[in-house]
Amino acid sequence: MNKQQIISNTETFVKTTLKNAEGGHDWFHILRVWNNSKLIAQHENVDLFIVELGALLHDIADSKFHNGDETIGPKIARNFLKSQQINTEIITHVEHIISNISFKGGNFEQKFTSPELDVVQDADRLDAIGAIGIARCFNYGGYKNRPLYNPEIPPKLNQTKEEYKNSKAPTINHFYEKLLLLKDKMNTKTGRRLAEERHLYMEQFLTQFYNEWDGLK
Ligand code: NI
Repeated sequence: MNKQQIISNTETFVKTTLKNAEGGHDWFHILRVWNNSKLIAQHENVDLFIVELGALLHDIADSKFHNGDETIGPKIARNFLKSQQINTEIITHVEHIISNISFKGGNFEQKFTSPELDVVQDADRLDAIGAIGIARCFNYGGYKNRPLYNPEIPPKLNQTKEEYKNSKAPTINHFYEKLLLLKDKMNTKTGRRLAEERHLYMEQFLTQFYNEWDGLK
């Protein structure tokens, strides 16, 4: 099988698997991350095949929708890639991308690094900020039945992975606990550049949000 055929099979597999996914983690999230990954990869010295497979499979079974099980995503990806007769080295690399891409509160040491992970991670982070990031954030909050905002519950920085995962805090807090921190965590030059405008947009959104909340506008 050639690489193009494998990518196309992967696309079909991911679309089918994520048919009923939450709106912020559905096929269209994957498509945006895939597109952004290709865009960022143009300026990086990476294996595009691995980048594309990593982007396509990175949320195939996100642990937050599987009782915190972080092994299930890489496992599903491995089984699928094996069925495509891909060599073991590539399969292992893609598994590493999937298990190391996520933020998890930002306070844990990422064990694996590679230029391909850097690209997919930046693409995924870009989709968590800006207008799309805001939309996804509130959709997930709704999915978890979280309040929009509660001035009496301050954001909690430096959460452990467990605290972060089990948080019942208002959605607005997530901006301070994650979204506004991502701009300075970008790995690539292109990622950093694209993050700037999206970051500004979130800051403007928050200003407007508080003004409306306080009846000032
Ligand atoms: Ni993602």
